[in-house]
Amino acid sequence: MAMFGSCRLLATASHHPALAAAAISARASSVWSHVEMGPPDPILGVTEAFKRDNNPKKMNLGVGAYRDDSGKPFVLNSVRKAESQIAAKKMDKEYLPIGGLADFTKACAELALGNNSEVIRSGRYITVQTISGTGSLRVGANFLQRFYKNSREVYLPKPSWGNHTPIFRDAGIEVKSYRYYDPKTCGFDFAGAMEDISKLPEQAIILFHACAHNPTGVDPKPEEWKEIAAVVKQRNLFPFFDMAYQGFASGDADRDAWAMRYFVDQGANLVLSQSFAKNMGMYGERVGGFTVICSDADEAKRVESQLKILIRPMYSNPPLNGARIAATIMNTPELRKEWLEEVKQMANRIISMREQLVSNLKKEGSIHNWQHIIDQIGMFCFTGLKQEQVERLTKEFSIYMTKDGRISVAGVTSSNVGYLAHGIHKVSK
Ligand code: LMR
Repeated sequence: MAMFGSCRLLATASHHPALAAAAISARASSVWSHVEMGPPDPILGVTEAFKRDNNPKKMNLGVGAYRDDSGKPFVLNSVRKAESQIAAKKMDKEYLPIGGLADFTKACAELALGNNSEVIRSGRYITVQTISGTGSLRVGANFLQRFYKNSREVYLPKPSWGNHTPIFRDAGIEVKSYRYYDPKTCGFDFAGAMEDISKLPEQAIILFHACAHNPTGVDPKPEEWKEIAAVVKQRNLFPFFDMAYQGFASGDADRDAWAMRYFVDQGANLVLSQSFAKNMGMYGERVGGFTVICSDADEAKRVESQLKILIRPMYSNPPLNGARIAATIMNTPELRKEWLEEVKQMANRIISMREQLVSNLKKEGSIHNWQHIIDQIGMFCFTGLKQEQVERLTKEFSIYMTKDGRISVAGVTSSNVGYLAHGIHKVSK
C-alpha cells in the first residue's frame, strides 16, 4: 500500500507543486530511491528507438539480424522442415540434462572442430548447450573466473562486440584490450595487434572473434592468423574464441572455422563459444554451445562436472526447442545440406548489398573511397562514419545504426540501398 501511495503522489506532483515536497520525501523513503535511470543498451536500444519512428522509409541497421530482400525476418526452410518433423513425433517436454541435449552438443562440437578432428575422436573435450552466444560467453567467463588460476585478465580486440566487456566484468574478470582496427585504413591493424599481443602478460586470457569480427567486419588473413597463433603460443596466452557467425562470413562453415581449428592444431587447448542465432536464423530460440578442449577424456569429464555445478544455480538447464531444431538439422543429411546452402545464400545476399551500396554511393557522386565496405566481411560494416554523422542519418533520414558507425548490412535490401547511399552521401560530403 505504501508503494501505491508514493506512486500516486509522484504522478500528480508535477501538476500540483504543493505536493512536490511530499513526493520527494516519499521517493526518499522507497527502498529503490537510490536506483538511477540506466542508459539504453547500445545495440538493442537502437531497435527500441527505431520502433518509435513513424517514417515509412525508416531503416534499422542496428541489431545484427538477417532480413530477406523484402526487409522481412527470414525463417530458414531447413528450420521450418525440422520443426514439422519434430512436431510430427509428438515428443515430450521434459527437462533437458544440465549440460543440454546430447544430440545437439555433439553436432555442435563437430561443426566447429570438424568431424575428423583428433579432439573429437579422442573425446578430450566437453560441450555444454548454452543460452545462445551470450549465455555461452557468460558460462565461459564464470568458468575461467572459478578455475583458470593463471590470470584474472581478459584482453579483447579494440573495438569488440559491446556485450563482451559487461559479460567478463560481471563474471569478475578484468577487461583490457589489444589493438585490432585501424581507422586510417578501415582494416586490420596487424602490426599494432602483433605488437600488443607480444607484450601481454604471460598466460593472460585473449579473446578472438573466430570470423566476421563484430563490429568491424575486419578479419586477419590466414597468414596473419598463423603469426598471431605463434605469438599466443610463445607468450603462453589462453585463447577464448567467440564464433557467433560460422558460415556467415564466407558462406562456408569449414572455411569460417579455419582460424580456430588452426589454433587447435597448434596444440591450443582453447575454449569456444558458439551461437546458432545468425547461421540458423534462430535468434529468439537462444541456441548455443560452450566447449572446453582438455588434455584428455578424463579431464574433460571433470570439467563437465564443474560446468554442471556452475550452470545449475544459474538457469538449471537449457531450453529444449531450439536445440532440438538445430540437432535435427545438423544430424539429418538432407536438412544439413539445405541449411548450409541457405547460409551461403544469406552470406551472398549480404556480399551483394555491400557491392550495391558502394555503387550507389558512386552514383550519388561520393568522392570518398568506400572500398572497405566491400572488403569487410560478415553481417556488419564499420562505415567509418562519425557519431555526428550517425546522429544526422537518424534524425534526417530515420536510418538507425549504432553510434560507432556500424551498420548491419543484413538489414539492407535492393529497395532501400539507394536511400541508404543517398543518406550516407548527404552526411559525409
Ligand atoms: C549484434 O551485435 O547486433 C548482435 O550480436 C546482437 C546482440 O545481441 O548484440
